[in-house]
Amino acid sequence: MATPHISASPGDFAEVVLMPGDPLRARYISERFLENARPVTSVRNMLGFTGTFRGKRLSVMGHGMGVPSISIYATELVRTYGAKVLIRVGSCGALRTDVKLRDVIVAMGAGTDSNVNRMRAMGHDFPAVADFTLARRAVEAAEKRNKPVRVGNVFTSDLFYHPQEALNATLAKMGILAVEMEIAGLYGVAAEFGARALALLTVSDHILTGEHLSPEDRQTTFDEMIELAFDVAAS
Ligand code: HPA
Repeated sequence: MATPHISASPGDFAEVVLMPGDPLRARYISERFLENARPVTSVRNMLGFTGTFRGKRLSVMGHGMGVPSISIYATELVRTYGAKVLIRVGSCGALRTDVKLRDVIVAMGAGTDSNVNRMRAMGHDFPAVADFTLARRAVEAAEKRNKPVRVGNVFTSDLFYHPQEALNATLAKMGILAVEMEIAGLYGVAAEFGARALALLTVSDHILTGEHLSPEDRQTTFDEMIELAFDVAAS
């Protein structure tokens, strides 16, 4: 049976799903990296594909922007389609001077201004953290590729255009590497429904300096991160 937001049939998704924000990126990943990929869902153009990578069955599906969007897709993938591992591959804005454009971040934990995890924990703070085994695999795979990653905490914001400019400095001081818009939601869903999740991010913008990657650089760094994500997904 399909869900309200996913039109696939039972069994159409693999247990491991890579999730970029942009559904066209999902198509790009499936065309470039998967073998025998076929489309499995397209409700609201939130495209999903299943194929194989190094002989292992894998899926890729867009998750849209923001905590509500990723929460809907992640919940339906886990609850109805049997997904057990969700790996977000996205971009972020760096908050600290020691984080550079093109860096790849393994998001260990995510603070947030979203209320979703407090709703889950009856008003209390909830530690929205990555699955340790997946995070360790990502770090080891990156070392093997000689492309070390940053490992640390990020901040998941509901607002891209945030009115409180002082927040960034405070977060940076507390060691938060970057800001993005989905991870606390993803890690919360994974915890609620017993799945395992990880998010990898490329630094596409620098909040302090205003620098940002050109479209070509975005593509190159994105590809490198996807290769890393596939190392994690296929191992
Ligand atoms: N803010 C929030 N999300 C983002 C950013 C940002 O600056 N850059 C990429 N994703």
